[in-house]
Amino acid sequence: MTVAIDQATELRRLARQRTRASVIAVTSGKGGVGKSNIAVNLAIKLASAAKAVVLMDADLGLANADVLCNIDLPSNLSHVIARRKELADVMVDAPGGFRLIGGASGLARMADLSDYDRQRLIDALADLEARTDVILIDTGAGISPNVLSFTRCADHVLVVTTPEPTAITDAYAVIKVISRDGPERPISLVVNQVQRAEEGHLVYERIAQVARQFLAVHVLDGGYVPADPEVPAAVRRRTPFLLHNPRCPASLSIGQLAMRLQRGIEPATAGGGFFNRMGRWFRK
Ligand SMILES: Nc1ncnc2c1ncn2[C@@H]1O[C@H](COP(=O)(O)OP(=O)(O)O)[C@@H](O)[C@H]1O
Ligand SMILES: [Mg+2]
Repeated sequence: MTVAIDQATELRRLARQRTRASVIAVTSGKGGVGKSNIAVNLAIKLASAAKAVVLMDADLGLANADVLCNIDLPSNLSHVIARRKELADVMVDAPGGFRLIGGASGLARMADLSDYDRQRLIDALADLEARTDVILIDTGAGISPNVLSFTRCADHVLVVTTPEPTAITDAYAVIKVISRDGPERPISLVVNQVQRAEEGHLVYERIAQVARQFLAVHVLDGGYVPADPEVPAAVRRRTPFLLHNPRCPASLSIGQLAMRLQRGIEPATAGGGFFNRMGRWFRK
């Protein structure tokens, strides 16, 4: 009898583990580096593996994932914060098979939520975790309390930069703050808009080396996304570039980014709990 109960408890524990979503925050120091494009297209790539993927546009005040997807949102996070809707009610199906929780644009007061409202959003996300495989959060740029509250609850933080010196400096500043804020978790750097592969590697090496030396933080290599005219062309057509042109260099690099997350399960590149969970998720 005891054995049966223990087995049941263990099965429940395993079932819980299997259904717990991986939370990936996509963040940056400088704005306009490509977070939203990377988040939307990564959501599509991950959803193409027939898994439940939710993208929450938490760039409060400057949200635009809905524009990239050409979706007219009847309601968004501002309605959740105003307690007029539940998080699940503002979620809509987005092109490419993921679900989008839209953010609010042009509302200055959204940009600085009270601690109480921030906590309510995080609690609602925790609720969502049980019914989702991957939750991507587009956090917006910088190191405001809003951004940090989302990076803090993530299992993995993707920091996006471009090769511009200002973006690199700001990416390092964000890595510094995140690595000292909340629990230890993997941080990957994705270098966007590179002219050549070597440029991506150089930017990664430079930031990773400084982080190692001055912060004692190991930044993982999230790879790079080439500067690709198909990206602005897709933005103008309000179609995610992966759907606009699945074979363009930027689309192929998003495939590689998803693969990198998957490959993290191998012992050689094991990056902690997140990768193990991602591994389970991909094997399901
Ligand atoms: N890989 C890329 N190649 C070319 N242009 C890009 C690329 N990534 C982003 N862009 C351009 O940068 C703009 C800003 O990207 P966005 O994803 O909105 O940045 P963020 O969310 O960080 O503010 C896009 O509208 C697009 O024109
Ligand atoms: Mg954005």
